[in-house]
Parts: sequence; structure tokens; C-alpha cells
Amino acid sequence: MGSLKGKDILHGNQFTKKEIEAVMKVAWEFEQQLKKKDVLPLCKGKILATLFFEPSTRTRLSFEAAMQRLGGGVISMASADSSSAAKGETVADTARTVEQYADLIAMRHPRIGSAKEAADAANIPVLNGGDGAGQHPTQAILDVYTMKKEVGSLKNLTVALVGDLKFGRTVHALVEVLAQFGAKLYCVSPSLLRMPEEIITSLRGRGIEISETDNLKQAARASQVIYMTRIQKERFQDIAEYERVKGAYVINQEFLKGLHQKITIMHPLPRVDEINPDADSYPGAAYFRQMRNGVFIRMALIAMVLGKR
Ligand code: CP
Repeated sequence: MGSLKGKDILHGNQFTKKEIEAVMKVAWEFEQQLKKKDVLPLCKGKILATLFFEPSTRTRLSFEAAMQRLGGGVISMASADSSSAAKGETVADTARTVEQYADLIAMRHPRIGSAKEAADAANIPVLNGGDGAGQHPTQAILDVYTMKKEVGSLKNLTVALVGDLKFGRTVHALVEVLAQFGAKLYCVSPSLLRMPEEIITSLRGRGIEISETDNLKQAARASQVIYMTRIQKERFQDIAEYERVKGAYVINQEFLKGLHQKITIMHPLPRVDEINPDADSYPGAAYFRQMRNGVFIRMALIAMVLGKR
């Protein structure tokens, strides 16, 4: 394999289908091996720096857990306030600093394009853990890994992406990865939160079948996976607009009963009110399994960019 050795992971559109399949294969091997061992010491002596200028629970902790499961070390900056960014240091200078201490960087920042800025400045791989409303490529790969495990195959997949498709970086990255597998997509949102036109146009140009609708039930009945997203309050300029769209879609036990079909429910989390906890016991509710898959996928990506797989 090794095609990802030394590479930055910045955007969902950077991967070939072969590369995504290779990452999932390595992740699956790691997942099986971790049933017997706590640590697979492929990255002993290597250091991951996690730089999180925006809040995170899953992405930061799963990157750190992944590196520790690979036998490597972690240095971490868990908020902008706790670093020299608070004194005005640029992302580029921060990246140049951190490359003196670490072998790769996992980073989250509120500004679109910030991960690329860090990658351009540093001579070590940068893995984008979310750049504003832009991209979240490692999430996209763990999402398709979860779909493959839950549905059984990525062939002829139909996915309903629901909620905040305008600001949701997870869906912006996910559609790029799903496109590699020819998935059919329903984009379900209020008109204010539609998937950016340039993404829709680009995917249609590549032959991907996409329908835009505000009707969740109709899209869900035609889909094998519902991918819910949180309405991203923190990205709204006008809070009155947020108030108009919040709570637009809610999955609960009653909704699932009304579907009369088995369906996989996913969510990158955190959730606010878009999945009622009464849906958590539904067998197809995969969102907690989905976040665990993040460790295996991030282990695979770390090992591969470091040339250890
Ligand atoms: N899925 C995800 O990005 O979660 P966090 O914001 O907790 O990292």
C-alpha cells in the first residue's frame, strides 16, 4: 500500500476509491487485532500533535486514542486560549513550531482553508480534523466504513443527508467520498441550509444522482442510511435565522416505526435535538458504533501517512 505515505489529509475529494478501500482494509485489520491486544506498536517513538482551535470531543480524543493504540506519543493543545494563537501567532507559524516537536499534526480550526495553510507551512503530514464549515475528511472515511459495516456493502447505496447541509463540514466531505462509490444521495434540508450549489453541481457533473428536498419521510423511505446532522448554531451570522430552522428535523421512535423498514441511522455527533434519545435502542441506530469506528480509521490513517502500513 503506502500511497498515503507523507501525505496531508485535507479534503474529501483527494482520495481515490482504491485509497479509501485501502484505509478501510487497514482499519478492519486493526479492529480485529485490537480484540486480542491493547496496543499495536507500529508507531512506537512517533509523536502526534493535536491542535484544536475549536471545541471537539470525538475527533481529538479518537486521534489521541488512535496514536496511543499504535504505541506512539501525543502532545496536545486543546484550545486556542491555551496556545500562542491567543497572542496572535498565525496558523502557519504554529505549524512550523509544532513540526519541531512532532511527526504529524491533527488539527481543527474555525476558518475554512486553515488546515491547508498549516500543511503548506509544515513539512510533516497535517490531518484536517475540521476547518470551519469546510471539510472533515477523516470523519468522511469513518462514516463510509460505518456504512459498509452496518449495511454490508457500499454498492448501490442510497443515503439521505439531513439537516444543516450548508455549514456541515462532515456532509461536505462525506458526499465526496460517497461519490467514489457511486452512491445515490438525497439532500434533505430547509431551503436556508441547502448543500452549497458548487458541491451539487460538481457531483452532478461526475454523474452522481442527487435529489434535493425538504421532505425527510419521503427521502428516508427511499434510503438505506439516514445521516443526521446538527444545525450549527455557532456558524449563523443572524441568530433569528437559526431560530427559524432549529428543530426542523427530528428522528424519534415514532418516526422510525412509521417507516416500516429497517434503516441505518448515523450522526457525526454531538447531537442537540435532532435524534431523540428514545431512538437510541433502535437496532439500526449506529451513531455510537460510528464514533468507535473513528479510532480504527484514524489508526489506519496515522499508520499510513507515517509509512508504517
Ligand atoms: N464528529 C465530530 O467531529 O465530533 P467532535 O466535534 O466532538 O470532534
